[in-house]
Amino acid sequence: MERRERLDKILAGTGRWSRREVKELVRAGRVVANGAVALRPEDKYDREGLSLLVDGEPVDSGGSYYLMLHKPAGLLSATEDPRQPTVLDLLPPHLRRVGLFPVGRLDKDTEGLLLLTNDGPLGHRLLSPSRHVDKVYYVEVEGVLDREDQEAFRAGMVLEDGLHCLPAELEPEADGRSGLVVLREGKYHQVKRMLSARGKPVQYLKRISMGPLRLDPALERGEWRSLTEEERRALAALG
Ligand code: URA
Repeated sequence: MERRERLDKILAGTGRWSRREVKELVRAGRVVANGAVALRPEDKYDREGLSLLVDGEPVDSGGSYYLMLHKPAGLLSATEDPRQPTVLDLLPPHLRRVGLFPVGRLDKDTEGLLLLTNDGPLGHRLLSPSRHVDKVYYVEVEGVLDREDQEAFRAGMVLEDGLHCLPAELEPEADGRSGLVVLREGKYHQVKRMLSARGKPVQYLKRISMGPLRLDPALERGEWRSLTEEERRALAALG
């Protein structure tokens, strides 16, 4: 199915210009689409992730945005906070006004993969407790991870505070100081609480994947990019 739409339709759809005015704007070279001066009003674009500027001012094309962010430590996974910086502060101003929210939270000191979108239904589907989307974390701990920790994770833990954790995977590295944790749920501070309960407090935590999305190794801390078509399809396929 052709998802792309004519540029004049997208711009006229904002209600700010008629189609005839859009044609004039484009002819005068005042419209920049995805970083390049738009040449023809009839050229087609995918609204999703489309960056549109008119006279250098961003225009909200009304599409959904899907961004992969390499969250650095020190920022809140929130859309706003009166005192502390949030992950949205890493985005350019026009992307802070399109209703993006982080899909699931990472603690302030946790790094790694964070999906930002303004597609509410998709966000809710991914977060739904019944969906069990796998999340993989790289973890460094105080102490040494061993086979007993691995078995406790595999069996599903009940923490002293009453938190019931679904069976999870723990794959220690050879020296036991670090490893991978795979969770199928996302309860508050869950990795830290599970490892503290094993007497191996977390020293460093980084999410490296969520469902079909893997943190792009080309993204430095604080960098982001739009999801590729293939990544968007893989998320949509989660149903
Ligand atoms: N588990 C945690 O303890 N913290 C996170 O940020 C994510 C998972």
